[in-house]
Amino acid sequence: MSDNIKVLVTEEEVDRKIEEIGRKISEDYAGKEVHLICVLKGGVFFMCELAKRITVPVSMDFMSISSYGNATESSGVVRITKDLDDSLEGKEVIIVEDIIDSGRTLSYLVDILQKRNPKSITLCTLLDKPERRVVEVDVQYVGFCIPDEFVVGYGLDYQQKYRNLPYIGVVQ
Ligand code: PRP
Ligand code: MN
Ligand code: MG
Repeated sequence: MSDNIKVLVTEEEVDRKIEEIGRKISEDYAGKEVHLICVLKGGVFFMCELAKRITVPVSMDFMSISSYGNATESSGVVRITKDLDDSLEGKEVIIVEDIIDSGRTLSYLVDILQKRNPKSITLCTLLDKPERRVVEVDVQYVGFCIPDEFVVGYGLDYQQKYRNLPYIGVVQ
């Protein structure tokens, strides 16, 4: 059975935005190298597309953390289920996410990754739902601020499906 999906951000708009963010990062990090960290699974499409738009040297790593379950108001407990392969020592780290909702995931990640002595950590997200924020996070690169609707595509899933849509949609 397939669900009805309404387009919220078109493929062209997403592509253009990623190009823009890639250009901005390339300018901001001119003369440096960046180490992109993807938060699996949602961040993977955005990170790969973004990496192609960055003109300074790029390295990439991946990590996975357990979501805090389906309870709407959670304890905020987050756990690493797949750690990074590489050290962060002295690196200019950019954590790449598909979406920031409550902010818990990124706030937790910044806390633990900061202890690994990177030169810097900045945050980059394709989508932001500011209305949903519970924990404050300082995000440098935001693609689109969106209303509090259930979105899929470009990495975002509904019961693990629709991550592969090349646009952002709302499940009706
Ligand atoms: C989603 C999304 C972010 C996080 C945002 O991941 O991809 O990682 O939730 O929510 P928060 O700001 O409230 O922490 P999810 O846990 O669904 O895992 P997935 O990326 O594998 O879909
Ligand atoms: Mn995720
Ligand atoms: Mg998910």
